[in-house]
Amino acid sequence: MKQGLVLDKVVLLGRTLDEYARYFALDLDALRGAEILDVASGVSSFTAEANARGLNVTAFDRIYDLEPAAIQSHCEPDLERVIKSIEGLNTYRWEFYKNPENLRALRERAYKTFLADYAPQRGARYVAGSLPSLPFGDRQFDLTLASYLLLVYEDHFDYKFHQQSLLELMRVTRGEARLYPIVSFEAKRCSYIDRFKADPALAHLAFEEVQTDFEFLVGSNYFLRLRHRS
Ligand SMILES: C[S@@+](CC[C@H](N)C(=O)[O-])C[C@H]1O[C@@H](n2cnc3c(N)ncnc32)[C@H](O)[C@@H]1O
Repeated sequence: MKQGLVLDKVVLLGRTLDEYARYFALDLDALRGAEILDVASGVSSFTAEANARGLNVTAFDRIYDLEPAAIQSHCEPDLERVIKSIEGLNTYRWEFYKNPENLRALRERAYKTFLADYAPQRGARYVAGSLPSLPFGDRQFDLTLASYLLLVYEDHFDYKFHQQSLLELMRVTRGEARLYPIVSFEAKRCSYIDRFKADPALAHLAFEEVQTDFEFLVGSNYFLRLRHRS
């Protein structure tokens, strides 16, 4: 019997800029002038909020070939399902969100802020496509982020998908990439991380598990940092 949140598909759930800043320990002021890519950004409001603050963020997701109304129709049912399933699980710590209602309000704010930005900016800063390939140039971005797709959905995506995605993320990144969280929905450290470190195909990359002070899913107070070795 599985412990933790059980999902039969990747859900359309979006986080806010404040949550991203905590997940990835971002110093937003220091990122002024940097080119940032948010991979599998979905209905997160990070891109909308960051660009409104003068940062330069491009969002990438497989849903960005959809009309705003089509995306909107998935947001509420996915959010409702997750909020219902999460209650009572012992794989979450509630110090930050306090209760499911607050969590729900933040997620709703995120997708509404996203939708308001997506309609006018679609095709500009919202780029459609599917991992493991990215439609960007070599070393185009200073910083690449991926929240709640890689590592955490270990059950849905095999090692090969992860390996190819990491190669592609780092092909388009000149600085570093950060993946969050590093645990599965069962709150277990993703088993692929040790394989990355020993994989000859990834030998040109350095991996570092960086501790943060934010934890919701148990064990989610770390992100994985990827850098080029040379
Ligand atoms: C749980 S959401 C996370 C959204 C956002 N990163 C956040 O943390 O708020 C996962 C996202 O991954 C996207 N996704 C799933 N498979 C993908 C793929 N192969 N390539 C690109 N995006 C994908 C989904 O469309 C969805 O928007």
